[in-house]
Amino acid sequence: MCGIVGYIGQQQAAPIIINGLKRLEYRGYDSAGVCIVRSPELDIAKKAGRVVDLEANVDISLLTGTTGVGHTRWATHGIPNDVNAHPHTDASGRIALVHNGIIENYLTIKKKLVAAGYGFRSETDSEVLAVFIGMLYDTLGDLESAVRTALSEVEGTFGLVVVSTVEPDMIIAARRGSPLILGIGNDEFLVASDASAVIAHTRQVVYLHENEMAILTRTGFTTKTIANVETHSVIDEITFELDQLEKGGFPHFMLKEIYEQPMTFRDGYRGRLLIDEGNVRLGGLTSVVDKLRSAKRIIFTACGTSWHAGLVGEYLIEHLARIPVEVEYASEFRYRNPIITPDDVVIAISQSGETADTLAAIREARLRGATVLGMVNVVGSTIARETDAGVYLHAGPEIGVASTKAFTSQLCVLTQFALYLGRMRQLGLEEGKNIARALDAIPDQIHAILEKADVIEAIAKEYAGVSNILYLGRGVNFPAALEGALKLKEISYIHAEGYPAAEMKHGPIALIDENMPVVFIATKDESYDKILSNIQEVRARNGKVIAIASEGDDHISALASHVLTIPTTHPLLTPVLASIPLQLLAYYIAVERGCNVDMPRNLAKSVTVE
Ligand code: F6R
Repeated sequence: MCGIVGYIGQQQAAPIIINGLKRLEYRGYDSAGVCIVRSPELDIAKKAGRVVDLEANVDISLLTGTTGVGHTRWATHGIPNDVNAHPHTDASGRIALVHNGIIENYLTIKKKLVAAGYGFRSETDSEVLAVFIGMLYDTLGDLESAVRTALSEVEGTFGLVVVSTVEPDMIIAARRGSPLILGIGNDEFLVASDASAVIAHTRQVVYLHENEMAILTRTGFTTKTIANVETHSVIDEITFELDQLEKGGFPHFMLKEIYEQPMTFRDGYRGRLLIDEGNVRLGGLTSVVDKLRSAKRIIFTACGTSWHAGLVGEYLIEHLARIPVEVEYASEFRYRNPIITPDDVVIAISQSGETADTLAAIREARLRGATVLGMVNVVGSTIARETDAGVYLHAGPEIGVASTKAFTSQLCVLTQFALYLGRMRQLGLEEGKNIARALDAIPDQIHAILEKADVIEAIAKEYAGVSNILYLGRGVNFPAALEGALKLKEISYIHAEGYPAAEMKHGPIALIDENMPVVFIATKDESYDKILSNIQEVRARNGKVIAIASEGDDHISALASHVLTIPTTHPLLTPVLASIPLQLLAYYIAVERGCNVDMPRNLAKSVTVE
C-alpha cells in the first residue's frame, strides 16, 4: 500500500525522503509528494505518477529544511492526481500529514467540518483527517493533543505522520492497522512504513505497536499509546543488507528474485533440516509442540499467492501427517462465522506479514480459542508479532510486486512443517528421509531450470499476443496451476485461469479453440495418464499445449506444441519446480508486451487495507 518516510535530524530532509520513497515505491506508485518544514512555512511538492515524475517537476534542492515527510500513494479515495496526492494540510496550511490506511468514518467527520465552515481541495479521507487535526489544534493549542484527540475519534486504519510549523522540531507518528517503524540514528530519526526506507541510514529500528504513537525530536523519541499511556520500546536490528534492495544487474526485481530462488529456498531449510533423522528442527514452534501433537485440524488462512501455498500445504499435511486441513481465503474467513475449537491450529501464511485480511482472520481465530501460528517472511511484521509461534521464510526482502521467491520459500517451510507433523505421528523414518533429501536437492534443480530460461523466453515471444491462457494441473499441481495463472494475469494483463485438469470437461473446454493456449503441468506422477487424456482433449479442439513435463519424458513432445522439462523430484515437491518455468513464462510474456513488470497497474505490495 502507500509508502511513508519522515525525517528529523541535522541533514537536509528532502534528499533523504526522496531516496526513501524510491525504496518504498513497490508499496504504491500512483503519486508521490514531500513536505519540508521551513518555519514559518511548509514547502510541499506533490505529483501524480512515480517519484521520478515528482523529481522531474520540482527542484528538490530548493526544498530546504531538516524535518519533513514524504509519501508514495496507492489510491483508495479519489483518483491518482496531483491534488489527491499526499501530503495533505489543514485549513491553515500549518499542519501537514501523510497517511496510509482508510478512515472509515471520514464522511461523518467531513460533514461536521463542512458545517463548521471548512472546505476541502481533494477527494481523500486523509485530507479530512488533516483538517480535523487543524481544527482541534485551534481549540487545544497543542499538536500532540490534537493528533491524539483526532485519532481517538477516527474509525478505520492509519499509519500516520504529522509535521507542522507550530512544532517545527517535532514529528508525530501513529499507527493502527498500518505498519510504521522508527529508524534510530545519531541525533537523527526516521519514520517509515518499512525498513527498506531507513536501512541506508541506520539498522536500529523500533516497530510501533497497534494504537501506539511516537513523538520524535532531533535528540530523542518517546512512545505512548493513543490513549496517552507511556510505552516501553524495544530497539531491534534490521536483518537484511542494503544490497538486497538493489536490482544487482537484473533488469527487474522480479527476475532477480526468480533467480535468487536456489539460495532463498536453501535459506528456508538451512539449520532446520535433519536428513539422517528424516525430520526437521523448527525452533519457532517449540512453545507449541504439545498443541501441534494434539491438533485435530489445521486451518491455513491467507490471500493471493500465499493462499495458493496454503493449498499445497493441504496436500502435504494430509498426505504426510494425516491431519485434516482447510484452506481459507482470509478475506472470507471471519465473515462466515467459522467453527473453530481449541484443538484447531490456525496458520497465517504471508510474505509481508501485514496483509489486513490475514491479520483480521487470525485475530478472529484467536478470539475463538485456536492456537495461532504464522509462516511469514518479514521479520518483526505485525502477523509475526501477533501469532503464538511461527516459522520465518528467510526469503529476504521481496520487492517485485508479483510474489515469486516468497512462494517457493512458503512451499519449503510448508514441506518441513508437514514433515515435522508427520514424524510426530505415523510417518516412518525412510519416507521422512526421502522428503528431506528431495528438499535438499531442490536448490540445484531450480538452478538447472533457470539455465534453460532462454527456451522459455522464446516460447513467451510466441504467446505474448494472446488474450487468454488456461492453466491445468492435478493433485498437488493444481495450486501450482492457479499460481501460474495468477502470475501471468497480474503482470501481463492477459486473462488467465487455473483449474484442476479434470474439471476442464465440466465447462472450460467450451473455450478451447486454436486461439486458446493451455499450460499443463504434466509431470510423471500417479495422474500422468489422466493428464495425457486431457491434453488429447485440448488437441482435438485445436488448442495449443504448453506442457511442463518431467525430464526424459519423450512421449509428451508428440502431444504438446512446447515442452518445458523439470527435473524429477518427490511428487509432493513438484509444485516448487513447476513454479519456476511458470514464473519465467509470465515474466517474459509481460516484458514482451512492454508491461512494467515490477509495478503492474493497480497492484501494490503489502495490502494493508481490507
Ligand atoms: C501475488 C501477490 C499477492 C499476495 C497477497 C498476499 O503475486 O503477491 O497475491 O500474495 O496479497 O500477500 P502476503 O503474502 O504479503 O500476505
